[in-house]
Amino acid sequence: MKILKVKNYDEMSRKAANIIAAQIVLKPQTVLGLATGSTPIGTYAHLCELCKNGDVDFSQVTTFNLDEYYGLDPTHEQSYRYFMNKHLLTKVNIDLSSTYIANGKAEDVEAECKRLDNLIEEAGGIDLQLLGIGHNGHIGFNEPSNEFVKDTHCVDLGETTIDANSRFFENRNDVPKRAITLGVKPIMQSKKAILIANGDDKREIMKKALFGPITPSVPASILQLHKDLIVITPLDL
Ligand code: GLP
Repeated sequence: MKILKVKNYDEMSRKAANIIAAQIVLKPQTVLGLATGSTPIGTYAHLCELCKNGDVDFSQVTTFNLDEYYGLDPTHEQSYRYFMNKHLLTKVNIDLSSTYIANGKAEDVEAECKRLDNLIEEAGGIDLQLLGIGHNGHIGFNEPSNEFVKDTHCVDLGETTIDANSRFFENRNDVPKRAITLGVKPIMQSKKAILIANGDDKREIMKKALFGPITPSVPASILQLHKDLIVITPLDL
């Protein structure tokens, strides 16, 4: 693993965006794995800027998002589809039909999970996966549990995740209790991964994830086994 220690959130965001842009310059048909949360917003803003300036061309890029709330319509303001369209996908020259996010309203959840796994496989896997980390060590919505789950699946969100994400909803009760998330297989098989983390509240979990035992009770700890992980953070680890 390579750790890039940066000065602040802005430098973290620029570095992450530059690496993603370089990946697309080198391979215009890149398959990107994307994350939501407050952490990658700056990265997406810089990518939009790079695209606007003509430094990066998204026209042949395919994207897969890590997760989506189960039960939220893609038009819901707190859905991850809405978030991605707002912060990146409608602001760059990507073909929206090449951007995949689980449908939170899918009637047959299992079929929806299988559909995503098949699409990722058909695309040849993820070239570059962008990741944030939850306070409990989740990646995507792979919550702490007794086992690492390989494939895309529907999960019950833990109380700490519901608490953390309630800041985006009017009421804690409005936070969906379930989500669809990619499993650890496509994340671990990604050719390159970038983990970004900001804020003192993430320091302890980052230390555990990167230097503690590899355990499904800290899902991000599996990233220690990733073949090409770049960690970008202003945190002293
Ligand atoms: C969310 C997402 C994760 C994200 C994490 C951290 O719930 N499912 O993919 O990495 O929580 O979010 P934030 O960046 O806002 O701290």
